[in-house]
Amino acid sequence: MAASREPPHAGRLTPGMNDNLHQLRCFGCGDRIAGPDARPDFRCVQCGDLFEVEYAGWSLRQGTNRPNPGALKWLWRERRCSSETLDQSGVWRFRELLPILDSYGNAVTLLEGNTPLYPLTRSARRLGIDQLLAKHQGMNPTGSFKDTGMTTALSVAKERGFEWVACASTGNTSAAMAAYAARAGLRSLVLIPEGKIAWGKLSQAMDYGAVTCQLKTDFDGCVRVLAEIVQHEPIYLLNSVNPYRLEGQKTPALEIAEDLEWNVPDHLIVPGGNLANSSALGKGFRELRELGLVARMPRISVIQAEGANPLVRSFAANHGKELEPVEAHTRATAIRIGNPASWRKAVRVIQDSDGWCLDVTEAEIAIAKAELGAEGLGCEPASAVTLAGLKKLRVEGKIGSGETVVLVLTGHTLKDADYTIDFHRGTLLREEEIAGHNAEIDALRRNAFVVEANPAAVVAAMKGSKG
Ligand code: F0G
Repeated sequence: MAASREPPHAGRLTPGMNDNLHQLRCFGCGDRIAGPDARPDFRCVQCGDLFEVEYAGWSLRQGTNRPNPGALKWLWRERRCSSETLDQSGVWRFRELLPILDSYGNAVTLLEGNTPLYPLTRSARRLGIDQLLAKHQGMNPTGSFKDTGMTTALSVAKERGFEWVACASTGNTSAAMAAYAARAGLRSLVLIPEGKIAWGKLSQAMDYGAVTCQLKTDFDGCVRVLAEIVQHEPIYLLNSVNPYRLEGQKTPALEIAEDLEWNVPDHLIVPGGNLANSSALGKGFRELRELGLVARMPRISVIQAEGANPLVRSFAANHGKELEPVEAHTRATAIRIGNPASWRKAVRVIQDSDGWCLDVTEAEIAIAKAELGAEGLGCEPASAVTLAGLKKLRVEGKIGSGETVVLVLTGHTLKDADYTIDFHRGTLLREEEIAGHNAEIDALRRNAFVVEANPAAVVAAMKGSKG
């Protein structure tokens, strides 16, 4: 895998930008440490909070030393036509904003990122919004946004000589980790809550060769067990407490800004589970603004499932100052998380960007998912909370018709085919959950017909079907 040859003048315009110049800054007490000095659980020794990757050199870059925004924009676009491996990754294409490796030769990539930004014309029309777009992170190599963060964090694991990597997961992280570990020739250990993740995701971890342990607990219980294991075993933790995950996960912010000709949308809407993705995207937009690549931040709102809404409760109870863990229940298993690790970071993103945090019901999630499917996109249930949340924000008058809104769809529709089939068969939701939504659900359901094997019966089924 070769690092790309920089065009000579762009290199001159961005001096030193390929140096590994990062440090870790504690999000709680502000303590700074060198990257390799982090504890195995990535918690601050002083205060127990999480770290954020910081690039001290950037703030010193005044005048001629400051990265030249025009040169970076040119260089990143130019790389889209390059045949070099790293340039073809939608994460490493932006490596000037990811100086976390000593050598880019250690980067482990599946050519992640470069995901589409689709217009959602029908939903936009229905909601009376001028421009509604979906950033479909499910179009990544293992079918979720986790790939963007796994390529960066797993590359660090490889560079630092680890043989084993591990994560607790609601499914997607484990699928991504297992794939990237396999590419790098590392062993991987997956802890998942028994019976509470979608089969598609479990099958991926097995296929990519992970040691997959289904624990008789929930996601939060898996996190606790793993935190103990990494204290004693030489295993590199790849949950999103690992700050290098968030560095990769910030790059969709760069892609969105680039796709909008270096404008930012008015509003970005993200699902909230462990709350790393919203934190990472917020960091991405913040850094773009600080480096002068865009003029402002979008408003960033986080949507949770009603049965797994600790952050919503925290905002309601104390404006995001404290978080009381909840026992989480939702069919959107990816975000079935009651004690989110990155909640403080997400609070900062929501507050700094003037965003909102709200929750949506099981029926609202299922309807939104079917609507996205009917637009030819589809996504997994956790992703559909974004559209469900947008509808609520629109009804509450918090989003104007002239705004550009981007929904972050986090996972591919095939991740959880059982959910989709149950919805269309009418077996997903209980009656009390459907109350008030009957007409909407009936209009969206498309159950498969069982038809006699003759043309007349098929044509009759076709003509009798809903439009
Ligand atoms: N959407 C999907 C499809 C997810 O898999 C997750 C998280 C989220 C949204 C929420 O993102 O946790 O950063 O707020 N899945 C994790 C996992 C927890 O283990 O795969 P978050």
